[in-house]
Amino acid sequence: TDIEKGTYPHYMLKEIDEQPLVMRKIIQTYQNEEGRLTIEPNIVNAVNDSDRIYIIAAGTSYHAGLVGKQFIETIAKKPVEVHIASEFVYNMPLLSAKPLFIFISQSGETADSRAVLVKVKELGYPALTITNVAGSTLSREADFTLLLHAGPEIAVASSKAYTAQLAVLAILAEVSAQSRNIPVEFELLREFGIIANAMEVLCDSKEIFEQIAREFLSVTPNCFFIGRGVDYFVGMEGALKLKEISYIQAEGFAGGELKHGTIALIEEGTPIIALATQESVNLSIRGNVKEVAARGANPCIISMKGLNMDEDSFVIPKVHEVLTPLISVIPLQLIAYYAALHRGCDVDKPRNLAKSVTVE
Ligand code: G6P
Repeated sequence: TDIEKGTYPHYMLKEIDEQPLVMRKIIQTYQNEEGRLTIEPNIVNAVNDSDRIYIIAAGTSYHAGLVGKQFIETIAKKPVEVHIASEFVYNMPLLSAKPLFIFISQSGETADSRAVLVKVKELGYPALTITNVAGSTLSREADFTLLLHAGPEIAVASSKAYTAQLAVLAILAEVSAQSRNIPVEFELLREFGIIANAMEVLCDSKEIFEQIAREFLSVTPNCFFIGRGVDYFVGMEGALKLKEISYIQAEGFAGGELKHGTIALIEEGTPIIALATQESVNLSIRGNVKEVAARGANPCIISMKGLNMDEDSFVIPKVHEVLTPLISVIPLQLIAYYAALHRGCDVDKPRNLAKSVTVE
């Protein structure tokens, strides 16, 4: 994880490929001598003492927050709200009696998030920053910090920081659950090993994603991502990746919501990338795909092994259902990468974007 590109044509591709390595680094760093995942007791207490967690973030980190909410609510049974930093600062919701604020920021320098942190500290509430940069502003000004250990992320479009954020949020959820004797239906450490291997399989499947990008995205002006539950949140991140680096207009939608308006945009050949990694909604998301296919859309279904069907474009390896976002995002990162490449875009330095935005 050094900052050289080595033999890679782009930092983004290198950083996508580093994800299995980062997973293993996180497993190592967050493990204690007895081989159990562990988090500083002060931080676990802050989670346990709060009656509601408020996640504040921007961009990709906001999308990680949406998945993090799912992790914390399912695993640690704590209610979580996720807010866009620039909205929260001017439009603060009613807070619970004992809130804990979690700031998610790769850089730790995003001004929109910092504005919220300043306000939160004025109000006297505890704050935890999850960041890739030790000593960053958001880390220094919060009470607690959890580091991503993802190594420097150079490409403007975030990839390995997103999966690292998910991993750290899952650890936080699990350690908090265990400390309160809440049963967790899987052993996270073991699942992380399976996930790291699955990430490798995906990173080794680049030709398929290049082919998908060529087939679905070489000429289109737009693209929709659909999913239900966490697949919806990962779809939003997939859409952001595609917008950022290929300039294709893309949007992530909840599978059931598309028909309430946006389906009007579907034309002959409009690409729809659908995620199907959740058993409980597998049939309903496939129903949504049929609705758009009947109107001429060109569907690309990415499913998880065990839920796959003949028409699927790609099947990701099986991992625990709660944790699928850690791997289902990788096909979307790679599809965005190749779409941008085929369109001749500057992958690492997309127009109008900055790696960290230090103005509000
Ligand atoms: C910028 C970057 C995005 C990033 C967002 C939040 O807009 O272009 O890629 O997701 O900031 O950055 P942070 O460092 O707070 O995660």
